[in-house]
Amino acid sequence: MKALITSGGRGTRLRPITHTQNKHLIPIANKPILYYAIEAVAEAGIKQIGIVVNADNQDVANAIGKGEKWGVKIQYIPQEAPLGLAHVVKISQNFIKNEPFIFYLGDNMVVGGIQKFIKKFESENSNCHLTLSKVKDPSRFGVPEIKKNQIIGVKEKPAKPKSDFAVAGIYLYDSTIFEAVNSIKPSPRGELEISDAHQYLLQHGYKVTFSEITGWWKDTGKPEDLLEANRLVLSHQQGRIEGRLDKNSTIAGEVVIGKGTQIKSSHIRGPAIIGENSLVENSYVGPYTSINNETRIINSEIEFSIVMENCRIENVGIRIESSILGSNVDIIKAKGIPKTHRFILGTQSQVELF
Ligand code: DAU
Repeated sequence: MKALITSGGRGTRLRPITHTQNKHLIPIANKPILYYAIEAVAEAGIKQIGIVVNADNQDVANAIGKGEKWGVKIQYIPQEAPLGLAHVVKISQNFIKNEPFIFYLGDNMVVGGIQKFIKKFESENSNCHLTLSKVKDPSRFGVPEIKKNQIIGVKEKPAKPKSDFAVAGIYLYDSTIFEAVNSIKPSPRGELEISDAHQYLLQHGYKVTFSEITGWWKDTGKPEDLLEANRLVLSHQQGRIEGRLDKNSTIAGEVVIGKGTQIKSSHIRGPAIIGENSLVENSYVGPYTSINNETRIINSEIEFSIVMENCRIENVGIRIESSILGSNVDIIKAKGIPKTHRFILGTQSQVELF
């Protein structure tokens, strides 16, 4: 079995972060989102992985490399434009050949591994095995219609969903999927929809089975999804202190502090992670917070947030919460007169003042 992982698209719902960074490289608990997909696939014993990338950008290939880190072989498949998930499958036929494969959307995160889905796909002799997860807002997703425990239809982002399930971004296929993706036509939004390929398989009598994901699954499409994914990953972490904590500092719960980081006169309440070569001084870092490398937090308080590399949070008078800071961001107290808030914000930045 091979694996195909996506890392293309434009990540428009995560702007401004995605103006300068591919969304799959955004860190969750200080690790790029895409690592979680590769880890899940490698853990299932799959050795050959194709990663679909935007043809005009090398960032993902540079950050991930050839796969030695995970004991796998990674090949990059360029996509000229984000023409849809069925298009991703279509352009990957040369890499997949006739083998069965797992199609894993690189912005999806799931807890508990993927082996059980592979086993079910194999034991039920399916042409296609879908994973379903109950969601509050199915119309954001591909939605199945289910009768007598069988999927009888799948529709992409329907206005009137026929179930409260989303089709999650972890799919198993045999080579009949290529017949489907080569037969369907682009949707009104101009994409070759993976849901239309599933509908094709159903209409042509192929065997489409499913598993329900009963644990945690998240599509990290929106800012609040990133914070929620970060919360979940941190809630499973074990503490580890490699940096230095002075005697006026305290920590509670599962806290990771990376090499070269100093904690002075501060309180860290886990679960939280602070990367390498950072400084936290006279500050509070609360639960579900990920602070990346080379960052300074001085005379400030922060919780339930993601802070990327090389940021400065200094002398901020009110606790920062539910926030995502891209790399090289400064939030500091304004000096001098007049007493004003001063902003230099890029397009689509968002500030909420108390
Ligand atoms: O997350 C599950 C949902 O994923 C499913 O329920 C939907 O049926 C499926 O269409 C998909 O919907 P999204 O709107 O979330 O797809 P998105 O455009 O965010 O793309 C998902 C992943 O695929 C992401 O890693 C970006 C990548 N991608 C997307 C497109 C359209 C590509 O690499 N190339 C593309 O052409």
